[in-house]
Amino acid sequence: MLPSGWPGHIWLEGRTSVHLQDHQPRPSHMPRGPAQKTGEGFLNSAMAPARTRSVMILADAVEHGWLTPEGKPIRILDALCATGVRPRRWRREVPGQHRLRITANDLDENAVAWGRASHEAHPVGDGHDWEIEAGRFARDCEGVVEDGIHWVEGDARKLMVQSPHQWIDLDPFGSPVSFLDAAIQSISRIGVLDVTATDTAALCGSAKTSAARRYGSVGIVDSYMHDDAVRILLATIARVAAMHDRTMQPILSLFDGHHVRVTVLLKRSKEEASSLLDSIGYRIRGSPYHFSNTPEGKYSGPMWTGPLFDADIAGRITTERAIELCGGRTEDVPDYWSEVDEDHANRELDRSVRHISESAELLSGDHLLVAMDGLGVAAGIGQIPSAKKILEKLHSNGFRAARTHMPEPMFATDADWETVLELVGQLTEGSS
Ligand SMILES: C[S@@+](CC[C@H](N)C(=O)[O-])C[C@H]1O[C@@H](n2cnc3c(N)ncnc32)[C@H](O)[C@@H]1O
Repeated sequence: MLPSGWPGHIWLEGRTSVHLQDHQPRPSHMPRGPAQKTGEGFLNSAMAPARTRSVMILADAVEHGWLTPEGKPIRILDALCATGVRPRRWRREVPGQHRLRITANDLDENAVAWGRASHEAHPVGDGHDWEIEAGRFARDCEGVVEDGIHWVEGDARKLMVQSPHQWIDLDPFGSPVSFLDAAIQSISRIGVLDVTATDTAALCGSAKTSAARRYGSVGIVDSYMHDDAVRILLATIARVAAMHDRTMQPILSLFDGHHVRVTVLLKRSKEEASSLLDSIGYRIRGSPYHFSNTPEGKYSGPMWTGPLFDADIAGRITTERAIELCGGRTEDVPDYWSEVDEDHANRELDRSVRHISESAELLSGDHLLVAMDGLGVAAGIGQIPSAKKILEKLHSNGFRAARTHMPEPMFATDADWETVLELVGQLTEGSS
């Protein structure tokens, strides 16, 4: 039976045609805030950049073989898929489909029906159909495979207990904490967990009781709150992973507009899982901050104090690659698609990956994160030089420095705070 409101109107996200409900406006290229829930068949277009990066990281795993050996299938689950846009994008836009076993699950009947109807209306049609394997405990897995996607309507936790996966995506409304335990147990010996959290008030430190309850953390609302939010979520995942003898390596950890999104690699290893907890600590404020394993003074945390990116994988998340994989081609675009739409789509792809590859090396190791806005007072100068000038100055003095994918202007560097202030001061002297 067709879902209510079907077919709505068609939009192209990446290379994939999606059906928006009639009352949903066409997305624009501008950075988008949280979309209002629009009922079943709901698509949050603000999440398009996160879905693009998910396509890119999965394509990278297939191409570079860092997840499963060549030839072995990757069982990948979008546990809370709503209308199935992400799994449909994996299906259409990731090369090497013969390796993928994609499952799309949601509890909402109409959302799953909407996803299935969309997939049927825009099939990939390459004949990639596969048999559903029996789950753990030799139970039959529910659902149906249609044109290479296994559609299931049910509780994500039940599905994750039933079957092992090499990749799980968790994109709930609000906090992901209630799904973490089941997801981590479902991950095979090695696997990727991709987690979204939209409860940013808790993670950024303004909703203190929710932060304490869900994450056992305290936050401070200042320039570092977005980086704190990412690190608090990472620490929560690391702790649950350690409970299940798994170690965690971040691949890509971002605060993007109105949500936190972290992609981590989990591996089974008791020894490494024990030492994982050494990377959990506190951000102590003052000049401008340092990490410590114990709370002291004015602090936020506990949070992950280790690397945020994998240098190699994040280093390959470039605009060129985004356009190559996800840029709409002539055969993909809807009839009404104009040059303006095409320009908007390409600009959104660029925005989805902005500053990631250039900051990959720094964010995969120890670094100092500097908020541009705080520099004026700290360096005792009236006019803060442009980010471009500051980065050039750091580079010419032999330091690494790069803008980061943060909502506010920030850069990461391997210079220490005193050096940053001194070089910024020199820039101001030079301009007077
Ligand atoms: C934020 S939406 C997901 C958006 C989707 N990932 C996308 O990219 O369009 C959250 C979804 O979780 C579903 N959901 C909530 N609890 C669930 C559960 N226990 N099992 C499966 N789905 C659930 C809701 O029906 C909703 O569609």
